Amino acid sequence: TVERTFSIIKPDATRRNITGKVIDKIESAGLKIVASKRVQLSREQAEGFYAAHKERGFFKDLVTFMISGPVVVQVLEGENAIAKYREVMGATNPANADAGTIRKELAESIEANTVHGSDSPEAAQTEIKFFFDDNEIVG
Ligand code: CMP
Repeated sequence: TVERTFSIIKPDATRRNITGKVIDKIESAGLKIVASKRVQLSREQAEGFYAAHKERGFFKDLVTFMISGPVVVQVLEGENAIAKYREVMGATNPANADAGTIRKELAESIEANTVHGSDSPEAAQTEIKFFFDDNEIVG
């Protein structure tokens, strides 16, 4: 099935000017970028986006990191896009990520881990709607 998933290229990547390297990994995997914008998140937006994690010990640091610079939010489309993008990203902690994945090759730490991707169809729908209107997504 053709699916859509939601991606964030995080501030560690915009800071190092390596968004193109991330995009190359995405496109080389056969995922099509059907929406994209560079934005500076507010603290309120970042807290809202990561609301599911608000009881976690790393929540405050995560939010502070995510607003430390611009991010690139995108919608990716393709066959099994949600699982495929999670494979392309690699494990949350780059120390545990497989060779060839975005996080193994590019991430700095478990927090500054270069990318976010939706973990379920429900999350993908919610996360896409958080950032994009239907008319901003062009397949
Ligand atoms: P992400 O997929 O964006 O979802 C939540 C983020 O929290 C995760 O990627 C990590 O970057 C970040 N994070 C920071 N510390 C931890 C931790 N100890 N365990 C899991 N996620 C963490």
